[in-house]
Order: sequence, then C-alpha cells, then structure tokens
Amino acid sequence: MSSSTVTVPTKMKGWVYSEYGDPAQVLKLESEVPVPDVKEDQVLVKVVAAALNLLDYKRMEGAIKATDSSPPTVPGYDVAGVVVELGSKVKNLQVGDEVYGNINEAALLQPKKYGSLAEYTAVEEKLLALKPQNLSFAEAASLPLAIETALEGLEKVGLTSEMSILVLGGAGGVGSLVIQVLTQSTSWFLTILPLQVGVILSG
Ligand SMILES: NC(=O)c1ccc[n+]([C@@H]2O[C@H](COP(=O)([O-])OP(=O)(O)OC[C@H]3O[C@@H](n4cnc5c(N)ncnc54)[C@H](OP(=O)(O)O)[C@@H]3O)[C@@H](O)[C@H]2O)c1
Repeated sequence: MSSSTVTVPTKMKGWVYSEYGDPAQVLKLESEVPVPDVKEDQVLVKVVAAALNLLDYKRMEGAIKATDSSPPTVPGYDVAGVVVELGSKVKNLQVGDEVYGNINEAALLQPKKYGSLAEYTAVEEKLLALKPQNLSFAEAASLPLAIETALEGLEKVGLTSEMSILVLGGAGGVGSLVIQVLTQSTSWFLTILPLQVGVILSG
C-alpha cells in the first residue's frame, strides 16, 4: 500500500447489523467498527454522503443470505466522499479526490462487509468516478445503484426511437432516472398520467 498524507484511524463509527431481521430492530450505531483494509486495487473513501436502496433493506432482512457476506455487516451500496488512502496498484485516483459510486460490483454476490453507512469504506478504483463539481455529495450519492439499474433496464429493453415506454413508479428512485435519461434526448416526449401512476415516453 502506498503512503498516505491523511491519518486514518483503526476504528470508526458505523451502522452495523449483527443478525438478519427487521432493520428497525437489528441496525445499531456502533463506534468501534474496524476501518476496512485497502486491497491493492482499492482506495479508502472518507464517506461524506451515503444513500440507501430497497436492496439494503431486503439484505438486512436476509433476502440474499445465501450469497451475502456474513454479519456483522455495515450496509450501504452508494457512496460519495473523499479518497484518503490508495492501494499499491491504484493508477488514476489521488488522495483528496472527490468521488462517488456503487461500492459493490455485483449487487447480490458477496456485497462488501463494510459498506457505505460508516465513516470509511474501501472501494475498487474502477467502481468510482470523480464527483462532478455541480453535484453536492448528497446528490452524487443518490445516483449510482439506481441509475445503473435504470440504464441496465433500458439496455435490456433494446429501446428504439419508434417505441413508446410506460414507466411505472416514475416518481421513485429508478423510475425518475429512467425518465431523466430518456428525456435527455429531444426526440422523446413525456406524458404524465393522472394521479402520477406512471409516465409514457414516446420516441
Ligand atoms: N434502487 C435501486 O437501485 C434498485 C436496484 C435494483 C432493483 N431495484 C428494484 O426496482 C424497483 C423500484 O426501486 P426504487 O428504488 O425506484 O424504489 P422507490 O424509490 O421506492 O420507488 C418505487 C416507486 O413505485 C411506486 N409504486 C409502488 N407501488 C406501486 C403500485 N402498486 N402502482 C404504481 N406505482 C407504485 C412508488 O410510488 P409511491 O412513492 O407513491 O409509493 C414509487 O414511485 C424495486 O422493485 C426495487 O427492488 C431497485
């Protein structure tokens, strides 16, 4: 591991669950959570903002128990923060870079034991991007997993400009991003249905 100009503690505050169950019961704020080790292709991120997705909730309930890392676990996929330490093979990021991303390459296959709901999280360099200056940390943290899901859905559909698409749950995390991605193209028209049940986009 390369040297760092920032002093990183060995323990941190973090939200931890030690058993699966109702998140309101099992999720606890702890102050003696180990700061994760940084592998050679990872950076350590000082977390400024983290976001929760439905998957965090389902994971805490045990829905992906068969492929999950074993508790105790710090949940959280989405992060925005500042790089404070570099693994030995990190090429592009520097200490001090403001970054954001989804810390888990595979959402359901052994998601990390030390997620983003803590003061620090270790993340592969390839999973992070520099935070745009015009986004706050909170805004940046709200995007990664949901926009990945939105883009993956659109790719699977094989959308063409001749199609119309009905977005149910258009006010939700994924749905609102599907709408924003599509309306970036001026060839798509937006129709909001009564009671905001859904949104129709036409090519
Ligand atoms: N977020 C992710 O990163 C992610 C990743 C993979 C898969 N998913 C899946 O994608 C789906 C959406 O996730 P999300 O994060 O966007 O959730 P969300 O932010 O809670 O949004 C869900 C949306 O669906 C609407 N809705 C709920 N029940 C409905 C119904 N019966 N009829 C019409 N609209 C209904 C909600 O409306 P109200 O607000 O009015 O209740 C809300 O706008 C979930 O199944 C989730 O498991 C999400």
